[in-house]
Amino acid sequence: MPAKTYLITGASSGIGAQFARSYARRGINLILVARRLDRLEALAAELRVAHDIEITCLDADLSDRAQVNGLLTRIKEMNLRPDGLINNAGYSLAHTFAATTAKQQLDFIEVCVAAPTLLARELLDHMLAQGFGRIINVSSMVAFSPGASGHTLYPAAKAYMLKFSRSLAAEVAGRGVKVTALCPGSTESEFQHSNGMDAVLKTHPARFVQTAEAVVEAAIRANEAGREVIVTGWTNKLAVFLMTYMPDGLITPLIRWGARKYQIEE
Ligand SMILES: NC(=O)c1ccc[n+]([C@@H]2O[C@H](COP(=O)([O-])OP(=O)(O)OC[C@H]3O[C@@H](n4cnc5c(N)ncnc54)[C@H](OP(=O)(O)O)[C@@H]3O)[C@@H](O)[C@H]2O)c1
Repeated sequence: MPAKTYLITGASSGIGAQFARSYARRGINLILVARRLDRLEALAAELRVAHDIEITCLDADLSDRAQVNGLLTRIKEMNLRPDGLINNAGYSLAHTFAATTAKQQLDFIEVCVAAPTLLARELLDHMLAQGFGRIINVSSMVAFSPGASGHTLYPAAKAYMLKFSRSLAAEVAGRGVKVTALCPGSTESEFQHSNGMDAVLKTHPARFVQTAEAVVEAAIRANEAGREVIVTGWTNKLAVFLMTYMPDGLITPLIRWGARKYQIEE
């Protein structure tokens, strides 16, 4: 059987880079996507030495719809036909809604909602035609949260990724394509650096932080097993259970009290 090829967005750091490492170990060829091409090339060089696989690195700013379409065109022109898609690229806007511009908000929606949708749409046909496909959409445990001040669009975008994954999984069930929403909690990565939360986390360190490797290995196992949703780590599972089943009048104030220190006020 020829080797499979998976496309991973946001592979230049954190969870995406770990997806590259974990799939490389499994002999999967890779298409790595992010803005920082130098990071992708360095990771690819390391993985090519360790594993006998083909890796293509493509730079694209996923907040720019033209670049997402350009990425799809480049993939086609290179005769690459991804058998798997890991929609991982993402970040959060830590400030309040009023303190972020409309451009920042729409860019966020392009990266975290529109680009994953467009990539899944355009890459799905090949997966369905050949009767094999793997899609992992990186959501978050906050997809289950009632929302809190700061990071305003983040739970909404991650809830979209969760619901989109579940509906798509239902549609393609039995056709060889497995779709999973990955819902991690705090995970070691550059996430808190890219959203400017470094200083906040120095005073209020996040608890129950998982390694990217633990998160990604759980995600791959769940996807292979055909599970639609994976919440990683027992503390996150407990939190999701409480957010789902506790009365709203109890869980909402609790979440908002806990989250108040993890926003940037102005
Ligand atoms: N870390 C956590 O605690 C946590 C928890 C739950 C869910 N998540 C989710 O996990 C995913 C990965 O985040 P991470 O924690 O690994 O953070 P990270 O280390 O900051 O990685 C984010 C990745 O997204 C890429 N990216 C950001 N904006 C982009 C853009 N405009 N165009 C293309 N690529 C872009 C970055 O690449 P470039 O900068 O090179 O473009 C980078 O590779 C995200 O969807 C995040 O929401 C993270």
